[in-house]
Amino acid sequence: MTHLAKISAVLLLLACAVRAQVASTPRPGPAVIDESTRWTRCNTTRNVYDFQMSQLDGRFTDLTAYRGKVLLIINVATFCAYTQQYLDFNGIIDRYKAQNFTILAFPCNQFYLQEPAENHELLNGLMHVRPGNGWKPHTDMKIFGKLEVNGANHHPLYEFVKGVCPQTVNDLGIMEELMYNPVRANDVTWNFEKYLIDRKGVPRFRFHPTAWSNGRVVTPYIEQLLRERA
Ligand SMILES: *[C@@H]1O[C@H](CO)[C@@H](O)[C@H](O)[C@H]1NC(C)=O
Ligand SMILES: *[C@@H]1O[C@H](CO)[C@@H](O)[C@H](O)[C@H]1NC(C)=O
Repeated sequence: MTHLAKISAVLLLLACAVRAQVASTPRPGPAVIDESTRWTRCNTTRNVYDFQMSQLDGRFTDLTAYRGKVLLIINVATFCAYTQQYLDFNGIIDRYKAQNFTILAFPCNQFYLQEPAENHELLNGLMHVRPGNGWKPHTDMKIFGKLEVNGANHHPLYEFVKGVCPQTVNDLGIMEELMYNPVRANDVTWNFEKYLIDRKGVPRFRFHPTAWSNGRVVTPYIEQLLRERA
């Protein structure tokens, strides 16, 4: 064996060892179960309309365009076990859009680096990778630019909702999977945590990512807020 061949062989072995280790590691994040009791009530009268949010094209906008609507705010990621929840979103929007409901999605890369794409690549990832098979977001569903939900640079919108909506679980997760610092007790727990906002823009309910069941856990609360006046 030449020197170079030996080095390549060692590198190949190392690569396989790393691969084997990754394969035997349990899936990151909370277990994929349905848990209908992991939600809390928020306590505030302040609305979310003034927060400045970056869009996929880099331009900023506030949320005043959503006045009068019930909003489900979700931090999303393309390479997560929960990414299949996207498949439920379009149907829920179709069911409630006439009553002025929509979903606002905020991509975030802070949970095990599961949203690595650049803003301009994100929609292609959804269409061709996961959920894939040509999947497209509902035309009423707004996918914003990437942001940070936790840590030193958490976005002010997330700083606000985390501050007024109590944590839904006791355990935040495994340190090595949380790509931010500092870790705080009220942090967003993982991708696909949800905040439900009423017609006045006020956060009302917080749902853990596992409180979903194809939307069945959250839709009664959507319906409750849709019955309220703006
Ligand atoms: C809600 O917030 C108000 C004002 O901060 C506080 O006085 C009240 O105790 C809170 N209620 C609950 C149920 O936490
Ligand atoms: C939905 O919003 C539009 C525009 O603000 C309004 O005209 C309409 O009455 C609303 N519909 C419901 C069911 O709230």
